Amino acid sequence: MNAIDIINKTKKAITLTDDEIRWLVENYTNGEIPDYQMSAWLMAVRLNGLTEEETKSLTYAMRDSGEIIRLKAEGITADKHSTGGVGDKTTLIIGPIAAACGICVAKMSGRGLGHTGGTIDKLESISGFRTELPVDEFERILRKTGFAVISQSGELCPADKKMYDLRNATGTVDSIPLIAASIMSKKLAVNADCLVLDVKYGSGAFMKTRESAQQLADLMEKIGKGAEKRCKAEVTDMDSPLGLNIGNALEVAEAIEVLQGKVKGKLYDTSIQLAADMLQLAGKGSYEECVKMAVEAVDSGRALDVLRETIKLQGGDPSVCDDVSLLPVARCSYEVRAVQDMKIIRINCEEIGMTSLLLGAGRLCKGDPIDMTAGIIMHVGPGDSVSTGDTLMTLYSTLCSDFSDAAVRALNAIDFESVNCHKPLT
Ligand code: URA
Repeated sequence: MNAIDIINKTKKAITLTDDEIRWLVENYTNGEIPDYQMSAWLMAVRLNGLTEEETKSLTYAMRDSGEIIRLKAEGITADKHSTGGVGDKTTLIIGPIAAACGICVAKMSGRGLGHTGGTIDKLESISGFRTELPVDEFERILRKTGFAVISQSGELCPADKKMYDLRNATGTVDSIPLIAASIMSKKLAVNADCLVLDVKYGSGAFMKTRESAQQLADLMEKIGKGAEKRCKAEVTDMDSPLGLNIGNALEVAEAIEVLQGKVKGKLYDTSIQLAADMLQLAGKGSYEECVKMAVEAVDSGRALDVLRETIKLQGGDPSVCDDVSLLPVARCSYEVRAVQDMKIIRINCEEIGMTSLLLGAGRLCKGDPIDMTAGIIMHVGPGDSVSTGDTLMTLYSTLCSDFSDAAVRALNAIDFESVNCHKPLT
């Protein structure tokens, strides 16, 4: 076998065998195949695609390139993955709900990059919370509460790490088979029994249309089932931020408020839907029964109890679950107000995410420091009508000097219709 033959086959859309794909992945990961040959192959895939079987072979070869976790947990284990969005704090809600219903949710999460946030950053906004745990401690917490979160191990899927960096540098990120293989290889290395995938579409998501998100969801579900996992992929919209709060501590506060039963709406509905999917995959009953179980876990306070206990065992201050004002708060805030009477048509989610990043909540490059208190609280959503001077959103930051660039960016993210006011003549 050699890399040139493999590149030429994909260039001519000739299907590769499982052996060829495994050989390519193994030899790229161990440094035998240089970046320039892998880049050529990735571009051939970007242009010609891969068959479903080829995508499965690629995913399983990437999964097998590193460690595969074998957790010593009791009962059925479950995991979830969101393809990323703005204000998406559902992991902090779904994990405790599913754990309160008897499932073990072992979550390995990442940090935020660009306009999307990451669960690890969010949790680290809780004073003392540790996300780098030895595996035996992670397993002990899981056995006690059913929900624990650690940061992604460097030993998982080294092939994906190398290939993803290369894709970022060669314009080959936007390929459905490559995205599916990249995400699923990491999820399969985590190795939970059940896997719920939340594939986002819209202005704040990787996939801009519902159709492309559905294609990705279907492919990832097939890859999961091909690896003998119980797997369900949902397609949900990211055309406006999920919930009202964007930014690390602000999102933790909102997730706690959902578990306190104080916040309903799209964030609550999406969380219940995904938690019910997880419970159904774990064999807890029909979808309708699982929705009832998820709702009851919130209403009874049992899901909040799980989160409180998990925070305590991971070294954080559990009293934030009873009083969200104990979370860190920004030194300064700024209200963005409506400059005219208007009806909100849509909110450009990516721009809102970038505004939050500018305020300090996110990072442009891996490893950049972040401000846990920074972010945005939205006071309006699509369909709302507002009058001149009404507050559209509040911006928070520790960088108090100047909110003007962020305010302009945030205002430009709102697509609105003018509402004509017919003032009586005086
Ligand atoms: N997230 C991943 O992990 N991989 C991709 O290719 C795209 C999004």
